[in-house]
Order: sequence, then structure tokens, then C-alpha cells
Amino acid sequence: PDQGIERRKVLLGGSALIAAPFLLTGRAFAVEGGAPLPIPPLVDADGSQPATLTARAGSHAFVPGTQTPTLGYELDYLGPTLRVRRGRSAQIDLVNRTDDQITAHWHGAHVPGNMDGGPQLAFDPGQSWSARFDVHHPAATLWYHSHVHGKTGPQVYHGLAGFLLVEDPAAPDGLPSDYGLNDLPLVVQDRSFDRAGRLVYDTSGMTLMGGVLGDTICVNGAVQPVADVPRGLVRLRLLNGSNARFYDFAFADGRRFHQVASDGGLLPAPVARSHIALAPAERAEIVVDFSADTAPVRLVSADIAQGGMMGGGMMGGNARPGGAIEIMTFAPGASPATGPATLPASLPAPPMDFGAPVRTRDFRLDMHAGSMMGAMFNRLIGSSGSIMGINGNSYDMGRIDAELRAGETELWRISAPMMIHPFHVHGTSFQVVSRGGQRVDPATEGLKDVVVVDGRGAEILVRVDQKADAATPFMLHCHILEHEDAGMMAQFTIA
Ligand code: C2O
Ligand code: CU
Ligand code: CU
Repeated sequence: PDQGIERRKVLLGGSALIAAPFLLTGRAFAVEGGAPLPIPPLVDADGSQPATLTARAGSHAFVPGTQTPTLGYELDYLGPTLRVRRGRSAQIDLVNRTDDQITAHWHGAHVPGNMDGGPQLAFDPGQSWSARFDVHHPAATLWYHSHVHGKTGPQVYHGLAGFLLVEDPAAPDGLPSDYGLNDLPLVVQDRSFDRAGRLVYDTSGMTLMGGVLGDTICVNGAVQPVADVPRGLVRLRLLNGSNARFYDFAFADGRRFHQVASDGGLLPAPVARSHIALAPAERAEIVVDFSADTAPVRLVSADIAQGGMMGGGMMGGNARPGGAIEIMTFAPGASPATGPATLPASLPAPPMDFGAPVRTRDFRLDMHAGSMMGAMFNRLIGSSGSIMGINGNSYDMGRIDAELRAGETELWRISAPMMIHPFHVHGTSFQVVSRGGQRVDPATEGLKDVVVVDGRGAEILVRVDQKADAATPFMLHCHILEHEDAGMMAQFTIA
């Protein structure tokens, strides 16, 4: 797995660490990784302590000594990690001090449509919006981000995103849980910078097809950072917060680790893996054993830059041999070992009790305007408008695309004839029945809110318990944000 990565030593805080130059091409901004991993502040947002999120412009150092104009919630870039507790209520007061409309959507949370922060709830600069909801969600790593129609891509790219962690006080998991010490939130994002250090967000020409890809990997807003970790078990909450890039994460030394949770919460038992693929917006909690490590440990990814292109290949199959991307480095031993020494044999996973579906629906993720070449041509000649669609329709805020009933299980068959798309549903977590033509084992997949759909399609069991009316419906969309912004989104009500 080390092939193709040229190693180089950098000095950081007096200890020699291994870093690697970034392999992707076209970098305009000379940056070197190795800064300490930033940990977003942890903010409790249960009803007793409302949290305030002020969205604003900022200036952020992705590498020390630079200043990049950014957006953030409370922070210069990204936002605090909000923590809510199952069985309690949550209150988050959102204030808009940017110069454009924003929202905060609670991605993966089971909240009613009017609290979901979708495009209908976009609000103007100088205004505020309060989200209040009861937390029914099992323990999980969720996230939040702005969701203004047509602007989600650039807003998230500039920083309007953060973690939302759900804790379940009634169901202790026995996993490492010291936030920032042995329980680390890691949002992986690819970004590009110009020579002045400004973020480049360019959707011209062909970029729309695969979405906006950056040439520099950032974790929690730092370029290829280094995290001090105790010499013991460490939980990593991985979030692919990239607009369009797919990853297949692995450790450079090939070590195995255990996946303990996916999008919607814990798995029934830890699952041993040597790599884990995450499409945009997908999460996985993994536990890594650093107890025997005396040298730095590198997290890498197969280079699947165009994971979104061409539905023929499976995600892993698109990896170019030897094309590893450096993500970040762990430096074990700097902090004392803490937390549990062994993994629990089983975990308090949420039940998967979908039952038999009462109806079937089909969703086709495709170009809106006829053929793919026609749509690309329109884009290239500068014709504006929406070219991506679902079932032939580009997103229209005034049209309800499906009406569901609360508590009814449906089978959704999703197809993607041209490209691979990460399909996301608001308001619930679903069970994947099949993906890529293969049946999926719910015990190793867990509850999901994003499923990767390639040319062989995917089937999911969906049941939504939260209400959503036509004024504030739930969204379903591709989570390649440029596809979503270009109209690959639909909306549904729950009566
Ligand atoms: Cu990450 Cu419509 O959401
Ligand atoms: Cu969402
Ligand atoms: Cu897509």
C-alpha cells in the first residue's frame, strides 16, 4: 500500500514524523501537511443548554501561516461538534451573519420536516432560526450543513458543516468515548487553493459531471494533519465531508481495524476490516488499536477521484493500483492510554424492524435534459439551468414528488444508468437490501442514510416516522453536491 508515496521526514514539535507529499496533480498552493489535528469544540445542545450557531465569514489557516477566506458556524471554518442526547430535546439557535441565505440541515437526524433545515427553510442575512426537536435517534455520528438550493456545494465547500453526535445515556456502548482524546471526529474534505491561498470552487465545463474535486486533502480543516493518540484503542468517527470525492480508507501498514457504526448508528457487533469505502456524506465509526505502536501510523485512501463517473465500475474497482492518497497521520503514545482496553463483543445497535414493504417506488438518477452528451453540451456552451434529475425531473421547490405515510415501510429501487451516485434520504435511516447487484448483510452495513448506487442499482427499505408537510417536505437527492445543486433532488411529504 506504500507504493507511489514518496516518504519524507518533517519535524513537528520535536518529534520526527513521516509525511508524504500529496500525489494529486495541479496544486497551485505550496502546502505541506503535518500540523496538529484540530478538534472542533464540543457543544451540548440539549434543551437545558441551547446551542447557538452563528454562520459567518472567517479567515482560516489550512496550513500554519496562511489565511484563507472561509465560512463557518461559530468558527472560522466548519462548526463546533454539537452533542445531543436521546430522550432529551435539542435546541439550536441559528444566526445568519453571512451575506447570503443559509440553513443548517441535520443530516441523518430523525426530525420533522419543519425542523430539518432543508432548502425551504433557507433564511436571509441578519435573520435567525431556531431548531427544537426531541431526540429519538439512537447513538450515532451525524452531521449538519447548509442546504440552500443551488448553493449547497459552494457553501459546504467554504465551511458550513459540522458534526452532530447523538449520545444514548440508556445504552452505553463500552467504546472509547473521551472526545478529542480517544474518540476523534474526522471530517475528510478535498479542497483546492489558488496561489493566494483562496479556496477554488469551479464548476465550469466538465467539472459538473464528476462534481468539484480538490487537490489537497484536509481533515478537520488542516492539510494532512497529525493526531496525537494514546497507545490504546481509539475510536475514529470518519465523515466523508467532501463535495464529490469517494474514498477507500486504509492504514498504510495494512493493519486491520473494527467498524463499530455506520451512518445511522452502531452495528450489532464490531466488524473487522482492512479498508472502508465512504462516498460523500457517509460516516463510519472505526476503532483502531494503537497499543503496540511506537512509530507514526498513516491513514491513506485509494485514489478514486472519479468515483462518481461511469456506472460500470464498483467503487473499489475504480482504484488505480498504487494511487494512494495521504489522508493524515496518527502519532501514538504522546498522550497516556485511556479508556477500555478491549472491544466489546456486542454493541447496543438500533433494531432493524422494517417488516414487509407495503409498496415499491422507483427512482432513476439521471440527466434531466435528454442525453448525457446533450446536457454536457448545454453546460459547456454556458446554458444555465438544471441538468441533473430524478425520474426525468429536475428539482422544483414547488412540486411534491412523492407522498408517503408515516410508519409504512416501502421498498425503493434506485437506478443510476450513467454514473455512480450517493443517494441520500432525509428524516430517517434506511436498510440497504442490495447494492451493486449484491445482497447486503444488514449486520455489517447497519442503518444508513446514504447508499452508493452504481449501474447495477440499489434497493432500500425506507420507513419514515417523522411528519413533513408540503411547506417543509423532506429531500431525497444525490450527495455529490454539484449534482444536487444541478437538480438531482426530489422532495416528499409524510402524512
Ligand atoms: Cu447531507 Cu440533503 O443532505
Ligand atoms: Cu440530509
Ligand atoms: Cu450524483
